[in-house]
Amino acid sequence: MLQIVPSIFAADFVRLGEDVRRVEEGGARMLHIDIMDGHFVPNFTMGTPITEALRRFTNLKLDHHLMIDDPDTYAPLFIKAGADCVSVHYEVCRNLDRTLHMIQDHGAKAGVVINPHTPVMLLENVIGIADYVLVMSVNPGYGGQKFIPNSLSKVRELRRWREQRGFRFAIEIDGGVDSGNIAGLAQAGVDWFVAGTSVFQAPNPAEAVRELHRTAEEAISVKV
Ligand code: DX5
Ligand code: ZN
Repeated sequence: MLQIVPSIFAADFVRLGEDVRRVEEGGARMLHIDIMDGHFVPNFTMGTPITEALRRFTNLKLDHHLMIDDPDTYAPLFIKAGADCVSVHYEVCRNLDRTLHMIQDHGAKAGVVINPHTPVMLLENVIGIADYVLVMSVNPGYGGQKFIPNSLSKVRELRRWREQRGFRFAIEIDGGVDSGNIAGLAQAGVDWFVAGTSVFQAPNPAEAVRELHRTAEEAISVKV
């Protein structure tokens, strides 16, 4: 099932609760939470207190994207704070098989993220474990960047794997998703669309979620 996953990185942190209510009203079922440590990416965002506060405030599934050097230490803390899904970067995990199982053993869905420079092929031996794969369509660290077109072929490759080998992982995309590219992404095989700027910087975030969802649904219902 297609999901628009608003990224609170682009929300107004002074009015975070109001922004979350807006995307709930637009039909969102998941919220994307970018965790940055100033090492893996040149930026900081938030820690477990924000997760705890959101957990008390909303029933949306909390999708945590860990852009940090040490996910093994921090993933359990975010899950304890209320994370439902936790994704870790391929580029920092020395024991990725173990890390994905550890996230699942703590009771969350486990995702693996690949940066724009990382080929899908490298996931071959963990793809049967991961609950979802997150394809970065920008270099991580900042919101509002331009979508990298090559990401589309990575999504197609993942979908091919899934179909040919009977896997069930979801495909998520993150970075530069908007009303202009979402149809092509849906047709390529994306299930979960992270959207920061195109939702929270829109005049009406609830309507932006509805519109993105409608466009994606229409794109996959068209018979070719
Ligand atoms: C970038 C983050 C994204 C970001 C997306 O490092 O992982 O989740 O919030 O923002 P937009 O949709 O503005 O590209
Ligand atoms: Zn993200």
